[in-house]
Amino acid sequence: MKTLIVFASGNGTTERCANLLAEKVTAPKEVVNLKKGFPANPEDYDTIIIGGSILAGKIQSVVRKFINRNCEILMKKRVGLFICCMAEEESERDKYFTTSFPQDLRDHAFAKGFFGGEVIFSGLNLLSRFIMKKITKTDQDIHKINQDAIARFAETINKSL
Ligand SMILES: Cc1cc2nc3c(=O)[nH]c(=O)nc-3n(C[C@H](O)[C@H](O)[C@H](O)COP(=O)(O)O)c2cc1C
Repeated sequence: MKTLIVFASGNGTTERCANLLAEKVTAPKEVVNLKKGFPANPEDYDTIIIGGSILAGKIQSVVRKFINRNCEILMKKRVGLFICCMAEEESERDKYFTTSFPQDLRDHAFAKGFFGGEVIFSGLNLLSRFIMKKITKTDQDIHKINQDAIARFAETINKSL
């Protein structure tokens, strides 16, 4: 039972979350950064986990591209979906989830998660730094990766293997 975790990340938080998740998944797994290339053959896996972060209200276009390119395969696999973002409101996070993933895939997914987010100012360009300072009303880094949510997500995967 092989598991594939694919992700896209702006400044590394989703990558950290994907790796934290991978550490907790008991099955053989591979972690692929979609910005560096697509996995050669998603058909080879039983479970495919897809994650990305929300930047200016949207998930990375490369995540959508991966989904569009593999939609038929994905509907035949066990699929998990996760998002990293700073939104605290459940309704806002739900909205991001809805706009990030197509409905048939959301309905098909057996695991869904919000893994929180981080703002690390030194990793942002000037414009992003300015925007995030305004939104967060601070220039201090924020670390809100939700370890519990990652652990619960991994447990759902492990239980269903
Ligand atoms: C330019 C920029 C725009 C962002 N826009 C949003 C947003 O619209 N909604 C939100 O909840 N979080 C937003 N965030 C917070 C990110 O989702 C959060 O920092 C996340 O951890 C980024 O993960 P990454 O490093 O993997 O891209 C934004 C962050 C940046 C830098």
